[in-house]
Amino acid sequence: MKKILVIYSSQTGQMSDVLQSLCADIKEKASIDFFKIELESPFPFPWKDYDTFFDAMPESVLGIPQAIKPLAIPDAAGYDLVILGYQPWFLSPSVPFNSFLQSEYAAVLKGKPVVTVIACRNMWLRAQEKVKESLISLGATLVGNIALDDKHPNIASTMSIVRWMIHGQKEASDKYPEAGVSTGDIKDARRFGPTILRALEQGQLDTLQAQLLEQDAIPLRPNLIVMEGNGARQFPKWAANTIKQGKAGDPARKKMLKKFKVTLFIAIFILSPVSGGLARLKTLLTKKKTAEDLAYFRQVAFVPGKI
Ligand SMILES: Cc1cc2nc3c(=O)[nH]c(=O)nc-3n(C[C@H](O)[C@H](O)[C@H](O)COP(=O)(O)O)c2cc1C
Repeated sequence: MKKILVIYSSQTGQMSDVLQSLCADIKEKASIDFFKIELESPFPFPWKDYDTFFDAMPESVLGIPQAIKPLAIPDAAGYDLVILGYQPWFLSPSVPFNSFLQSEYAAVLKGKPVVTVIACRNMWLRAQEKVKESLISLGATLVGNIALDDKHPNIASTMSIVRWMIHGQKEASDKYPEAGVSTGDIKDARRFGPTILRALEQGQLDTLQAQLLEQDAIPLRPNLIVMEGNGARQFPKWAANTIKQGKAGDPARKKMLKKFKVTLFIAIFILSPVSGGLARLKTLLTKKKTAEDLAYFRQVAFVPGKI
C-alpha cells in the first residue's frame, strides 16, 4: 500500500474540504496522513476589519515567515508522495504555508514527488512560481498541480470574497454568489484522487500532470494571466514601501496600507472593466504568446521570470 503525506494550510476550512474530497475515493486504497499547518500566532478569521486584513500584505508578498506549531510527522522517509494544499494571499503563498516551506519541517519534502493543490479566488500564478522555486531548493520534484478557483466574473468574486473574509459568509447572499471555490467544484475534486494514486502505483508520475489536465485540473482563463501580471509587478513595490514604515501590526504602516487598499479597489471596481477588456484584447492580439503562457502555467516545470 502506497503512503501519502498531506500537508496543508486552511483558515476557513475550504482547503481541508478540497483535500478530503480529493482523497475520498483513495483513502481505503492508500495510507494517507494529514497534517495541518498552524501558526503560533494565527491570523483571525473572519478578519473583521480591513486594517488587519491588509496588514498581512507586506509579509505575504515578501515571503517573511512566522513561527509555526511543531508538525510531528512520523517516519518522514517512508512516504511515497506528498500532497501540499495551500492558498495564495496577495499573489503569494499564504503566510502559514510559506512559513512551513521555510521551516525545519519542510525537510520532509527532500527527494519526494509533490502534488500541489491550490484553492483560491482566481489569481495563483505568482504564488505557484514561488512555491516551485522553494520546492527546487528543498530537493523535491513537483509532479502535479491542481488549481481550483472562483469561476464568477472578477467583480462578483471580489465582492463575495470581501464578504467572506471580513464577515465570514461564504454562502451566496441576495446580491452576490457563493465565495471562493464552489461547493460543486469542491465535491468534484474527488475525481483527481484515483488519477494521482494510479500514476503513483504504476510509476507514471512523469505523465501525471498531463493526466490531471485531461480532467480540467487547471481551468485558467488567459486574460487573468495578463491581469495578474499587472498586479505582480506592483505588489512587491507596495510591500517594500510599507515594510520601511514598520513591522507587522505597527500603526505606522496604516497610511501606506490604506493607499494600497484604495488603489487595489480602484483597480478592481473602477478600472477592471476596461483593463479586463484590454487584457482580453491583448490575448487575442498576441495569440501565440498567450498559448505559450497558458501551456507554461498549466505544467509543472519552473522557468524564472515568467510572471
Ligand atoms: C489575506 C488574503 C489574501 C488573499 N489573496 C488572494 C489572491 O491574491 N488571489 C486569490 O486568488 N485568492 C486570494 N485570497 C483567497 C485565498 O486564496 C483562499 O481561497 C481563501 O482565503 C480561503 O482559503 P482557506 O483554505 O485558507 O480557507 C486571499 C485570502 C486572504 C485571507
